[in-house]
Amino acid sequence: MSGVCVGMVALVTGAASGIGRATAVALAREGAAVLIADLQREAGAAAAAAINAGGGRAAFVEADITRDAEAMVAAAVAQYGQLDILINNAGIFYEADFLATPFAQWRRAVDVIYFGTYHVARAATQEMVRRGAGGRIVNISSVNAFLGAPRSSHYNSAKGAVDQLTRCLAVELAPHGILVNGVAPGFVDTPMAIIDGVSEHETPDFKAFYVERRRIPLARPARPEEIAEAVVFLASSRCTYLTGHTIVVDGGLTATF
Ligand SMILES: NC(=O)c1ccc[n+]([C@@H]2O[C@H](COP(=O)([O-])OP(=O)(O)OC[C@H]3O[C@@H](n4cnc5c(N)ncnc54)[C@H](O)[C@@H]3O)[C@@H](O)[C@H]2O)c1
Repeated sequence: MSGVCVGMVALVTGAASGIGRATAVALAREGAAVLIADLQREAGAAAAAAINAGGGRAAFVEADITRDAEAMVAAAVAQYGQLDILINNAGIFYEADFLATPFAQWRRAVDVIYFGTYHVARAATQEMVRRGAGGRIVNISSVNAFLGAPRSSHYNSAKGAVDQLTRCLAVELAPHGILVNGVAPGFVDTPMAIIDGVSEHETPDFKAFYVERRRIPLARPARPEEIAEAVVFLASSRCTYLTGHTIVVDGGLTATF
């Protein structure tokens, strides 16, 4: 197989669905062997089976990024012998009014998005440094990392912290040949956009403001595959001099006002 990830092994968290799944498919297409780690057993196994059926190499491990970081990395090494790429993608979103939400409920987003990213990055880095062959880490951020929004202080601040982790790890891990970058999507059509059973991208308000008035200059949300393209570049052997940066993939959303 030819491709920019031939001979590489990737761990993709949250790859049973959405952006993670599209990224796993794209990495496998480029020649990587992919370990899908997710809480969702059936969807995760189905994602791996679909990749294998298409001629790629993938396996699934049921795992929680807040508790099972070492186990995920060990599973990748047990399955494929090494770990070259980590895609820190798993995440959650819910609305939380700042005044009304109890601390434990607010903090859950930080536990998953920020500490989960930290735990898996740390476990993966330990393995990459031990092996001594470098590596690539891509943290999935969001445009929310650098924008304010109501009922989103938990999510936005956790994503902001992820961006800062990306910069700091890029600096600290450069001597080990580990490149650390991020991708910050805008609106993406995935199950995460479904709130109370309705996709926020299908509401009249979204269509009027973001599409018809071109608040998103490209006038539509992204498909998960369009986010995966940027992720795969950062994870690939083509990416050799880019580190400590988070690429915004938002159809122009944050380029305008
Ligand atoms: N959809 C969007 O509009 C959008 C925009 C910006 C950023 N993002 C980010 O992209 C990433 C992927 O989101 P998505 O839109 O594909 O959502 P999604 O809900 O389709 O997928 C998220 C996946 O993460 C898994 N997951 C959640 N918590 C986990 C945990 N503790 N351990 C392991 N797996 C866990 C879920 O089971 C799910 O399969 C997230 O980090 C999200 O914050 C999404």
